[in-house]
Amino acid sequence: MLDTKLARITKLTMTTQEIRQAYLNFFKERGHQIIPRSLLVPQEDPTTLFTGSGMQPLLPYLLGQEHPAGVRLVDSQTCLRAQDIEEVGDNRHTTFFEMLGNWSLGDYFKREQINWVFEFLTETVGLDKNRIFVTCYSGNPAQGIAKDEESATIWSETLAKAGLDTKQVDIGNVENGAKSGEQGGRIFFYEDKNWWSRSGGPELMPEGEPGGPDTELFYLYPQVKHNPKYGEHCHVNCDCGRYIELGNCVFMEYQKTKDGFAKLPKRNVDYGGGLERIAAAALDDPDVYSISVMRPIIDTLERLSTKTYDSHTTPMRVITDHLRAAAFLAVDGVIPSNKEQGYVMRRLIRRAIRFAFELGIEQNFIEEATSVVVDLYEKDYPEMAERRTAVIDILAKEEKLFRQTLRKGLKQLAKLGRAGKLSGADLFTLYDTFGFPIELSVEEAATQGIELDPLWREAFTQSMQRQRERSHTATKGTFKGGLGGHGDIHKQYHTATHLLYKALRDQLGDAVMQHGSNITEERLRFDFSYPNKLSLEQISALEKEVNTQIERDLVVAWAEYPTKQALNEMKALGAFGDRYGEKVKVYSMTPKDSDQPYSLEVCGGPHVEHTAQLGEGGKHFKIIKEESSSAGIRRIKAVLV
Ligand code: ALA
Repeated sequence: MLDTKLARITKLTMTTQEIRQAYLNFFKERGHQIIPRSLLVPQEDPTTLFTGSGMQPLLPYLLGQEHPAGVRLVDSQTCLRAQDIEEVGDNRHTTFFEMLGNWSLGDYFKREQINWVFEFLTETVGLDKNRIFVTCYSGNPAQGIAKDEESATIWSETLAKAGLDTKQVDIGNVENGAKSGEQGGRIFFYEDKNWWSRSGGPELMPEGEPGGPDTELFYLYPQVKHNPKYGEHCHVNCDCGRYIELGNCVFMEYQKTKDGFAKLPKRNVDYGGGLERIAAAALDDPDVYSISVMRPIIDTLERLSTKTYDSHTTPMRVITDHLRAAAFLAVDGVIPSNKEQGYVMRRLIRRAIRFAFELGIEQNFIEEATSVVVDLYEKDYPEMAERRTAVIDILAKEEKLFRQTLRKGLKQLAKLGRAGKLSGADLFTLYDTFGFPIELSVEEAATQGIELDPLWREAFTQSMQRQRERSHTATKGTFKGGLGGHGDIHKQYHTATHLLYKALRDQLGDAVMQHGSNITEERLRFDFSYPNKLSLEQISALEKEVNTQIERDLVVAWAEYPTKQALNEMKALGAFGDRYGEKVKVYSMTPKDSDQPYSLEVCGGPHVEHTAQLGEGGKHFKIIKEESSSAGIRRIKAVLV
C-alpha cells in the first residue's frame, strides 16, 4: 500500500506488472483468496476452445457449488478471444489479455464491489477520477427484469463522496447514444450493453446459463476526437475510442429457465477488469501497446526491422499480440497443428510472420521476439520461466516450417490468381499442397487485389470433403463415386440439414450450435453442441417438425448481406467456429403465403428451390442414428426414404 501511495504522490506511473500485483493485494487485504489462473485451454468445458473470461473456470461455483478457497476470490486470468483476431491492429483490441477478476460467491454484493473497484482505480492506480464514467442496466420488462436503480444509487453516493457530479441519463441503446450523446451525464443507463452472460443478452441465453445486470466503468480520453463514422455524437459505449471500458461488475443472480428467469441459489459478483487497458489508462495513453508488457516487444521489432512503430503501427501491433498469445498457448501445452486450439495457434504464428514481411523482416525473428515475451512474464508466471526453452522452440519450429512453404505458396497464389480471380479449388490447392491456412489465402488475395469466387467457401468445403472421402476410400475400398457432388440428392440433404438445424434450435434451445456437417448420397450427418442424449420423444418430434416443413413446401431463396447484419440483426444461423468475410450468402426458407422466413442460415448452398422436393416420390425425413460425437457434441445421421 505504501509503495502505491508513494507512487501516486510522486506521480510515478505503475507498470502493468505492478498493477496486477497491486490488484491481487488490494483484494487480499479485503478478505479474498488469491487463486491461480486457469489454463488457456479449458479443462472441463468442451463447448469452448479457449478461456475467454475470468469467470469461465469458476462456472460451477457461480452456479452454487462450494469453492475450496472460500467465498471471496481474486486472480488475474489469461484470456484468449480468437474471434477478435481480425480486429487486432487498432489501439485497443488484442486476442490475448489478462482479466483481473474478483468474485463474491454469495457473500458481498453491489455496494462493496462498486466502492472497491472505484477505490482501486482512482486511489491505488491513481487514475483521474474526473475521467471515470459508469453505466448501469436499464431493465428489460419483456424478460421481467427490473432497472438496476440500486447500482446507480450506490454510484451516486460513491461519486458524490469523491466530489464528482452524479447526473443520471437514460440512454437505452447505442443508436440512442449516437443520436443524443452524453448530455452531461456521469451515470448512464443502457439496456443491451449492461447485461452479461457468456452468451450475451437475456434472450440469447440457453436454459441453465447464469447471468445478470452489470455496471461498467469507462475512462475518457479527452485527447481523442470523436469519429463521426461511429455516429453523430459520442457516448460512453461509442466505438470511436474516446471512451475505453476498463472493467465490468456483473451482478450474477439470475439463471435462464425454460420460460424466463429464476434466481440463482446465491447472489454473486463477477468482476472483470482489462489489465492492459487499466495499465494504458495509468499512462494516460489510449494505446494499449504502450504498456510495460507490450512496448519491449515493439522495441525489439523496431530494432529487427529498422522501422519505427509510428510508421509501421499496425503490423507491429499484430505481431506483438499474436506472439504473446502463441507464447501463452505454448506454456499451456498447445502445439501448432491443423486442429482446434493448435490450428488457432498455427494461424497466430503464421499471421505474425506474414505481418513481419510488411516490416521487411524476412529472416527468422520469432526466437528473438518470443524470448522478450518470456522475459516479460517469467517473474509473475513461473511456468513461463520453467518452459522458456520449450516455448521458444515450439514457436521457432513453426516459423521454420512455415517459411519453407510460404515462399512457394505466395508464388503459387499469384500464379493461380493471374486472371484476377481465385476459386475455392485454388484455395484448396494452396491449403492442401502449400499448407496455407485458408484465412491467410483470403487475406493475401485481398492484399494482392485478387477477387475470390463468391462460392469459394462451398467449393473449398467440397474439395475437402472429396479428399476426406478419398482417403477414407483408400482404406475401406467402398467408394461409389459422385460423393459430395452437386447432384439433386446432395441438394436435398443440404436443404434437409437446414430444416434439421432450425428444428433442433427451436426444440432444444440456443445451446445447439452446428459443429460440423457432412453429406453423401446416402445420408446427412450433423454434429451439434448439446449436453445430453436425445430421447426417443425428442427424436420423433424433430422428424415430425422437419416433415411438416417439407409438406409446407417452403420457398428456398438466397441473397447476400453484410456479415454483421446477417448474424446480428437478421439472426441468421451460422456454424460454430466458422469465419466469414465481409459479406455472406444467407439462405431463407419461407412459407408461400408469408414474408416471414421460417429459417435463415448463412450458407454457400446449393439447395433445392422448394422444400417439397425433399418429399418427392413419397419420401420422408428419418433420423437413423443419434449418438455422441465427442464431449458435449451430439451427432445425428438422417435419411430421406
Ligand atoms: N465476466 C465478465 C466479463 O467477462 C466480468 O466481462
